[in-house]
Amino acid sequence: MFIGSVEIKGCALLSPMAGVTDSVFRSLCSEQGAAMCTTEMVSAKGLVMGDRKSAEIIDLSSDSGPVAIQIFASEPESAARCVEKVMACGPDIIDINMGCPMPKIVKNGAGSALMNDPHKAEAILRAVVSVSSVPVTVKIRLGTDPGSINCVEFAKRMEQAGAAAVTVHARTAAQMYAPPTHPEYIRAVREVLRIPVIANGDVFSAADAVKLVDCTGCGCVAVGRGALGYPWIFREINALNRAGVVIAPA
Ligand SMILES: Cc1cc2nc3c(=O)[nH]c(=O)nc-3n(C[C@H](O)[C@H](O)[C@H](O)COP(=O)(O)O)c2cc1C
Repeated sequence: MFIGSVEIKGCALLSPMAGVTDSVFRSLCSEQGAAMCTTEMVSAKGLVMGDRKSAEIIDLSSDSGPVAIQIFASEPESAARCVEKVMACGPDIIDINMGCPMPKIVKNGAGSALMNDPHKAEAILRAVVSVSSVPVTVKIRLGTDPGSINCVEFAKRMEQAGAAAVTVHARTAAQMYAPPTHPEYIRAVREVLRIPVIANGDVFSAADAVKLVDCTGCGCVAVGRGALGYPWIFREINALNRAGVVIAPA
């Protein structure tokens, strides 16, 4: 699979997790076959203000495989201004968080709050794309709550605004991490987009990855909690893929 010009040689990616996907964890997952890893989300404003912790999050000096830096932003100016610092770290991809449901992120208008403000989401994405020299992707949920599921229109709009791929977590923001997931919406997104769609949600085993690929038709899955304490999950998913069981990058 290609995300813009970046070749992703595998079908299982490490999903971004704040407090988890630091450089040590990313290295472990890369060694075990994660086709791409993503950093913890980092505040665009924090980077612009020169915050030390934010700078540490985007340090990729120990990474060997493809890596995306994930930013969160609530307005286009800081989103665009942080790109210079992000690019200096040499990421393969910049990902924008449009799915985080945590109150401290949402109350500032970032993360999943952007799904209720597609106009601002588009402005942020366009601002980043206009100054980035690597592909820019977005990570979304189905919508903010069951009454406002808008992932299909939202993802289409992001594609038109220059997104190189979209990761869809098969829950609404209101669900946080509660069951059930709704992979059928990921399929609906995949059916209308030309860019790659990465399926995410509840992959805790290689068999779950096969099931999610089956349900969605996506060529790649992003694994979050399933890799916590078990980075071998990437090797196991890749082994099933090599055996030709089901997963084959589209
Ligand atoms: C501890 C933790 C931290 C997370 N941090 C982020 C983050 O920084 N950015 C993001 O887009 N998603 C974040 N997520 C969401 C995951 O990337 C993923 O979308 C979600 O956990 C569903 O996938 P899973 O069922 O494979 O865990 C986080 C999830 C967890 C459990």
